[in-house]
Amino acid sequence: MRNRLLTLLFLFIIAFLGVQATRTNSAEFDEPAPTRTPLVLYGEYVFLRENCLECHTLRDENATEERTSLDGYGGKRSAGWLYYFFIDPNSVHPFNHPTLKLLTKKTMSESIIEELFQSNQHFASDQEDDFLTQLKDQSDSITQKVKKGIYLSSDQSGLIDQSEMIALIAFLQQIPYTPNRQKYEDEQHRQYEERIRLNELIYANPDSLFQSVTSEPNAISAGNVLFKKNCIPCHGENAQGWIGPNLTDTSWIYDNSRNKMLHLIAYGSETYKMPEHSSKLKPNEIAQIVLFLESIREDEH
Ligand code: HEC
Ligand code: HEC
Repeated sequence: MRNRLLTLLFLFIIAFLGVQATRTNSAEFDEPAPTRTPLVLYGEYVFLRENCLECHTLRDENATEERTSLDGYGGKRSAGWLYYFFIDPNSVHPFNHPTLKLLTKKTMSESIIEELFQSNQHFASDQEDDFLTQLKDQSDSITQKVKKGIYLSSDQSGLIDQSEMIALIAFLQQIPYTPNRQKYEDEQHRQYEERIRLNELIYANPDSLFQSVTSEPNAISAGNVLFKKNCIPCHGENAQGWIGPNLTDTSWIYDNSRNKMLHLIAYGSETYKMPEHSSKLKPNEIAQIVLFLESIREDEH
């Protein structure tokens, strides 16, 4: 227990010193500096060596059309996701991203580790063993996460222990927010909350919503399109039921009044089996779907 606390304290100090550190080799990394564990340092080396900066920047303010920003990327994706992305980018991304499959079979180089240790001011010269242990422990832990997090076919595995791929993942997973990015994310979050608050008011008293949507000439066909996009996987092509119930017959779990349907589609069911849609569909879109569902109900014919 005591040992554990000491290790935690030690890691904390390293992290703190890491944040204070400044680097001269690339303005990209100056401030705020990433949490520089030994493995992250190795990952940063891979990131630079593989010319990732050709198409990426770590700061929003340096982003251009050719260089997309990875500002604040830490925490966005799991280790398993990143692994998949790099061995088979096309399967998860429309853009033809360079693959890094070879890195899964490449062991981290001892001489590079030695160099990283030598140039690191936060480890005394007699702490090389600590440096190596930290590097290995973090690498093992991320490797475990990759192996547990995803299913790898024999074609996709080939991930060896202490591979450079794992170091790159460690680096990407801690890229911090620059203050600029933080401001942007905060603003996005504020707008999101504001939208949710306004929507709640609309859903609480939807009469005028239905009034205006009913007067749209294409409301029902728009609702049909939205139904196809969002609901078919569970309710079936013609809403005749699949994982979720038939929506065209007269037997309903919940009451099928307009307002109840609107709420159910917006917020999901109490059982959580029917998911919420208020975060991706606007109130008028959900109202269009409700009108569409009314139009295909048996009791309407
Ligand atoms: C030829 C240009 C190019 C190179 C080289 C390149 N990338 Fe990318 N990368 C892209 C583009 C374009 C995207 C998509 C950006 C978007 O959707 O905003 C992308 C997306 C990504 C993403 C985000 C994926 C997601 O959806 O979460 C990561 C992480 C990434 N690249 C890492 C790397 C790393 C690491 C390297 C270096 C080994 C690298 N890229 C090299 C062009 C490139
Ligand atoms: C992930 C699967 C899933 C998706 C996607 C889904 N639903 Fe459902 N839906 C369900 C399930 C399951 C139920 C039954 C709810 C329960 O038992 O609590 C349900 C219930 C309903 C009900 C109430 C039916 C009744 O008998 O009372 C309506 C209306 C409904 N869904 C509409 C929709 C619409 C419209 C969409 C698309 C915007 C949609 N659902 C998307 C799974 C889904």
